[in-house]
Amino acid sequence: EAESKKKLRLAGHKILVTAGPTYEAIDPVRFIGNHSSGKMGFAIADELALMGADVTLVTGPTAQISKQQNIKRVNVISAAQMLEACLTAYGDAKACIMSAAVADYTPADVATQKIKKKDDDLSIELKKTTDILKTLGEAKREGQILVGFALETNDEEMNAITKLQKKNLDFIVLNSLNDAGAGFAGDTNKITIIDRELKKTTFELKSKEAVARDICNKVAQLING
Ligand code: CTP
Ligand code: CA
Repeated sequence: EAESKKKLRLAGHKILVTAGPTYEAIDPVRFIGNHSSGKMGFAIADELALMGADVTLVTGPTAQISKQQNIKRVNVISAAQMLEACLTAYGDAKACIMSAAVADYTPADVATQKIKKKDDDLSIELKKTTDILKTLGEAKREGQILVGFALETNDEEMNAITKLQKKNLDFIVLNSLNDAGAGFAGDTNKITIIDRELKKTTFELKSKEAVARDICNKVAQLING
């Protein structure tokens, strides 16, 4: 009975989740990427689906596979493609949980041919990508819930609060790279949630599935009151 009750909590709500890294092409065979595994975002999408939500999962390149069936998966490669996919899904999304590790910079020009090795060193000019979360925050409608992540190595809480406010979020999930067992590749995570009232909740080190439950419960609380 507890299970069926839980299942109903997000029924009828469209929720957008982003996951994984982005790859920014340098030439036809090379890219700039990062070590995001996509595990956290996929666990969140699975948990939301279990809670009855209508989930769209926009994901960068990853080996992850959803455990739940009823998830609409949109595969993208670059930050620019992820932005497009998110803008498409944002219109009727009740909530967005942005766990992707989006590239902040992308090569200013993509070489059409493989860049050949020369005797000299090589510099690649990079230009800023669009901040997807900030863009969604600026377009946020009454009642829409926006959740971001912050991966920090120093001044963690201050940096996370700055992101929360700059991007107009309802809460931010802080991952400290200083915590053993937390971060990109592993199966566990240790998070602190900071909300708009700057209320901080620090959770124990737990599996990414259990962390996903904590995050999704907070989203359900905000939606259902
Ligand atoms: N994010 C995004 N689009 C970007 C960069 C980040 O949507 N181009 C989102 C991430 O998915 C995450 C949040 O913004 O939910 C914070 O990402 P993070 O990299 O921690 O922060 P930045 O604002 O990019 O700042 P910095 O990397 O300098 O810490
Ligand atoms: Ca960043």
